[in-house]
Amino acid sequence: MITVIFPAAGQGKRMKAGMNKVFLELGGLPIFIRTLLKFSGCSCIDEMIVVAAPDEVEDMKQLLSTVEGLKPYKVVSGGSERQYSVWNGLKAAAADTEIVLVHDAARPLVSEDTILRTIDEARLSGGAVAAVKAKNTIKRCNGDGVVEETPDRAFLWEIQTPQTFRMQLLMKANQKAEEDGFLGTDDASLVERLGAMVKIVESDYYNIKITTPEDLVIAEAFLKAQEGNR
Ligand code: CTP
Ligand code: MG
Repeated sequence: MITVIFPAAGQGKRMKAGMNKVFLELGGLPIFIRTLLKFSGCSCIDEMIVVAAPDEVEDMKQLLSTVEGLKPYKVVSGGSERQYSVWNGLKAAAADTEIVLVHDAARPLVSEDTILRTIDEARLSGGAVAAVKAKNTIKRCNGDGVVEETPDRAFLWEIQTPQTFRMQLLMKANQKAEEDGFLGTDDASLVERLGAMVKIVESDYYNIKITTPEDLVIAEAFLKAQEGNR
C-alpha cells in the first residue's frame, strides 16, 4: 500500500494573503486541490491524507467533497510545526502502508515522473527526496553576515518534495525526533539522524513551493506551460 501525506496546516504568513495560502486559487482551483488531483492521477497511489489546521478541517472536507476523480482520502488535524503535522498524518495512515510520500500541499506543479521515481528509489534505498541542482552560488556565513565558506556548487541540491520513505523508517525517524525534541526543516533530516541513507531524485524547476506572492505569478505561467505541453 502506498500512502501520501499532504501537510496543509500552515498559515501562509509569507504569502501575506491573510489566509492559508493553500486555499488560494491557481488556474481556477484551490492550490491544495490541484496538488491532490496530481497524485490522484498516479495509478500506484492508494490513499491520501490531508493534514489541515484544526479550524480548517471542515472547510477542506467541504471543498474536497465537490471534487471528482480523487483517490480515497482522509483529512486530519495538524500541529504548530510542519513536522508535527506530518507526524499526525503518519499516525493516521493505513496499517499496511509500505511506502509513504510526504508532499507539501503548496507544490501543485510536481510531475508524475518525479512522484514515481521517488517511489522506486525509496523501495531500493529506504529514502528518496526530489531535488534540483542549485542554480546560484551558495555561501555559508556567520551571524554577522561575514562569509565563511563557499561550498562547491556541484555538490549542492535544493530539496523539494515528495520525500518518500519506507513507512517503518519514517515512523522510526519521527518517533526518535519526538523523543529527542529535535525539530527539522524537512522529513529527510529526521531520517538522516538515524544514520539511514537518503538519495536524491533529480526533479525539475517547475516543482516550486508556492511561498511568496510572486510565486503565484510564476505558478500561473508554469501551469500554462505544462498544460500546453500535454
Ligand atoms: N504546514 C503544515 N503545518 C504547519 C506548517 C506548515 O502542514 N504547522 C504545511 C504548509 O501548509 C505547506 C507545507 O507545510 O503546505 C510547507 O510549509 P510552508 O511553505 O512553510 O507553508 P506555511 O507554513 O503555510 O507558510 P509560512 O511559513 O510562510 O507561514
Ligand atoms: Mg512555514
